[in-house]
Amino acid sequence: MKRFIVAPSILTANFLNLGKELDNLKEAGLEWIHYDVMDYNFVPNLTFGPKILSDITSKYDFKIDIHLMVQVLNISVEEYLKPFINNKIKQLTFHFESLNKEQVVEFISFCKKNNIAASLAVNPDTSLSYLDEYLNDLDNILVMSVFPGFGGQKFIEKTYEKIKALKNLKLEKKLNFRIQVDGGVNEQTFKLVQEAGAEMIVAGSYLVGGLSVEKIKQRVWKLEN
Ligand code: DX5
Ligand code: ZN
Repeated sequence: MKRFIVAPSILTANFLNLGKELDNLKEAGLEWIHYDVMDYNFVPNLTFGPKILSDITSKYDFKIDIHLMVQVLNISVEEYLKPFINNKIKQLTFHFESLNKEQVVEFISFCKKNNIAASLAVNPDTSLSYLDEYLNDLDNILVMSVFPGFGGQKFIEKTYEKIKALKNLKLEKKLNFRIQVDGGVNEQTFKLVQEAGAEMIVAGSYLVGGLSVEKIKQRVWKLEN
């Protein structure tokens, strides 16, 4: 069976201890880090940008999954993304809702050019049908199971149906994109998320925030088994 990807989000870390949190995630065997970029514009929160990312990637070997919850104004998508890019960046996700059509096209071609997985996210109230025209070009689709902006929110139950619908679409059209889910994933919600068809999940508060290596290992084990 194809291995399921668990990507811890550092959004819920205590940033005074970020190095320690990353050491623990590494020691617990995690390969990916989910990096939530927010702009106080597309979402009501502000996080981090390229500097903290390059501090992380210059020291650690994690594969990086960047989740951009931002609008791109007065600058090209390429210019916006360039400062974030290095060889550890394996996936970039923009929200379908935050870009216009030209920007989506520019974004996807930027990813292809740089050999990075191209991913679009949809908010809980956005229909998957908006993604129809991009399905062939996407490497990943991120189904949001909370409204983006904060860690520690409750999983929105109707997301299960959305994941199933996306899985059916993928099978029906024989498409290659991966199905990712972000928000409120924990021991209670995980099994149903996986059964519904998710292949990659993000976990913030469940895995990051002062947990010991042992605790992280136990929780990841529960997610993977
Ligand atoms: C929320 C972020 C998530 C967040 C998940 O907008 O995109 O990645 O960190 O945190 P939990 O797992 O606590 O919902
Ligand atoms: Zn995220």
